[in-house]
Amino acid sequence: ASKALLIAIDGPVAVGKSTVGRMVASRLGYRFVDTGTMYRALTWKAIQQKIPFDDEAALSHMSANTTFQLTTSGSNGQNNILMDGQDVGRQVRTAPVEKSVSLVSKVPEVRESLVRHQRRIAQEGRVVMAGRDIGTVVLPQAELKIFLAASPLERARRRYQELLDQSQKVNFEEVLSDLQSRDDMDIHRQVSPLKPATDAYILDTEGLTAEQVANKICALALGKSPSETC
Ligand code: DC
Repeated sequence: ASKALLIAIDGPVAVGKSTVGRMVASRLGYRFVDTGTMYRALTWKAIQQKIPFDDEAALSHMSANTTFQLTTSGSNGQNNILMDGQDVGRQVRTAPVEKSVSLVSKVPEVRESLVRHQRRIAQEGRVVMAGRDIGTVVLPQAELKIFLAASPLERARRRYQELLDQSQKVNFEEVLSDLQSRDDMDIHRQVSPLKPATDAYILDTEGLTAEQVANKICALALGKSPSETC
């Protein structure tokens, strides 16, 4: 069987798309693109520029005047997104950004400009791209589309642990309710709502480690059965 050159990984908040996506990319020697970082980065920029989140024209104008690049850095060759030449990876994983990112990502013109950047990055192939609409809208031609699933409780537990590991002050109930309200907005928005592509492989990750999930995706990418070792 031939190798999948474009791998789309979609799914809800905190289901492990970027953890698993990075693992799959590194096993296959592919690049990894986390599109959530791009929506977060634009949200961060809007906060910096004091653009009101209901001013869709200003948000659209801002996104049309923003550049994105994928870099490869560090000894492990990790891929990161640069916005306007700057690595904002740290700034975007914060509460103010998470609170407002759904408002920015529901603006059609914002999505159009980000989708254009995402398709350009994927053009050379050999890429694992994670997000909400990769299999449905961004790369409908992807040879392998994965939709990751896990219950809200399981995802909240994972996110809670991740925040604790970063020594952030967190409350489990808050993590769970933030996650549910963000899922709700992603699922019910007008443009490119979160949903599996009709030809997506739905992978239930409940009770599996990230390594196990990555192995299944890697095996599928090589045309093997997901239960085989990759
Ligand atoms: O994957 P994440 O939590 O970092 O994504 C942040 C937000 O960006 C998410 O709540 C919805 C939005 N998003 C999107 O609308 N489309 C994508 N392809 C990726 C993310």
